[in-house]
Amino acid sequence: MSEQFKFAKRTNWNLTPNRLSEALAAHRAAGKPLLDLTVSNPTECGFEYDSSAILDALSSPAALLYEPNSKGLESARRAVAGYYADRKEEVSAEDIFLTTSTSEAYSYVFRTLCNPGDELLIPSPSYPLFDFLADIQDVSLVRYPLLYDHGWQIDFRALEQAITPRTRGVIVVHPNNPTGHYVKHAEIAKLNSICSAQEMAIIADEVFLDFALDGSRAASFATNTGALTFTLSGLSKISGLPQMKAAWLIVSGPQPWKAEALARLEVIADTYLSVNAPVQLAIPKFLEQRRAFQKQVVLRVRRNLAELDRQLAAQKASSRLVTEGGWCAVLRVPAMSSDEDLAIGLLTEQGVSVHPGHFYEFPSDGYLVVSLIEPEGILAEGVRRLFQ
Ligand SMILES: Cc1ncc(COP(=O)(O)O)c(C=O)c1O
Repeated sequence: MSEQFKFAKRTNWNLTPNRLSEALAAHRAAGKPLLDLTVSNPTECGFEYDSSAILDALSSPAALLYEPNSKGLESARRAVAGYYADRKEEVSAEDIFLTTSTSEAYSYVFRTLCNPGDELLIPSPSYPLFDFLADIQDVSLVRYPLLYDHGWQIDFRALEQAITPRTRGVIVVHPNNPTGHYVKHAEIAKLNSICSAQEMAIIADEVFLDFALDGSRAASFATNTGALTFTLSGLSKISGLPQMKAAWLIVSGPQPWKAEALARLEVIADTYLSVNAPVQLAIPKFLEQRRAFQKQVVLRVRRNLAELDRQLAAQKASSRLVTEGGWCAVLRVPAMSSDEDLAIGLLTEQGVSVHPGHFYEFPSDGYLVVSLIEPEGILAEGVRRLFQ
C-alpha cells in the first residue's frame, strides 16, 4: 500500500486552518465570551419567525407522492414567478429551475457553460465561496476589480482586458457581498454589449436583491434579454431560511441561446432531481415568510448602521464605505498591520470577531467587514471595542 492515495488534483486544497480560524477555535475552546460581528446565519440572530406556519408548510399530504420534474414542481416554480411578479417583473415558470442552494445553481451553470479550464470573470472584492465552487467544476476564476470612489463600480477596462478566448461568462453579485452595491443600469447595458458580442453569459447572484437600505427596488437580471443570462437566488437570504435548502436559477436572453441553455440545463437538473418534495411544496408558504422577515432585517441593518456611524463620528482613524444594500458594512481602518493580524488582535484582546478584508479579496490591507444583522446590543458593544 503506497503512502499517498491518489485523489483528484482538484481536491488538492490546503486545508490547514489559517491563523485567525485557529485563534477563534482556541478562544471558543477556552470558553471565553465572544462578540461575533461575522454572523451571517439569520436563524441565530433573534429574528421572529412564524414557526407554526413554517413547520405546517412542510407537512403537505402531497409530499407522499413522488412527481419527478426536472425543473421542480410547477406549483413551486409558479410561486417563484409570483415573487418576481410582485416586483413587477415577468418571469415564466418555464424558465425557472429549482435547486437546493444557489451554490448548486452555480454548479449547474458552470457545468452548462464551461469545459475544464474555461474561465469565468468574478468581481473582486466579493464573496469567498466561488473558489471552491469553481475548483469542484474545473473552472478557472479570473478576477475583475471593482473600484471605490464614493461608491462601487465595475472597472470595465480591467474587465475587458481579463477576457480571453476561454472566458465563458461574467459573474455579478447584485448587490455584492460585502460591498453592498447594486449593478447600475449603465453597467448592465455595458455588460450586455460585451457579453453578447463575445458570446459570453452573465451569471447574476441576487440573494440580497431585496435588502436595499433605502427601500428602493432594484431591477432583477431575471428579465434581462441583452445577453444569455442566468439569475440565481433563493430562500436562504430572501426569507431567512438557509436550513430549508431551496433556491432557483432563471434563464433569460436572446433566442435561440436561451432555448438551448434551457434544454441542456434540463438534462443536468433531471440527473439530480435534487430538491425534496416537502420543501418544494412548502416554497409558496416559505416565500410568504419573506415579508415579515425582510421588514425585520432591513430595520435591524439600518439601526446597526446608524449605531456604527454614530460611533465612527466620535473618532477620526476609521471610516465606513458607502453601502446600498445587503447585510454587512465595510470599514476602512488604519493599515498598521495586516488585516489578519488586526482581526486576531481584536479577537484575543477585545473578544470581538470580525472578517479581515483579505477574506473577501480586498486589494490591500486596511479593511474589515462587519455583519449588520446581529442583535443591536452586540453590534454596539462590538464596535465600541473595535474603536477602543
Ligand atoms: C453572494 C452570495 N451568494 C450565495 C450565497 C449562498 O447562498 P445559498 O445558501 O443559497 O447557497 C451567499 C451566502 O452567504 C452569498 O453571500
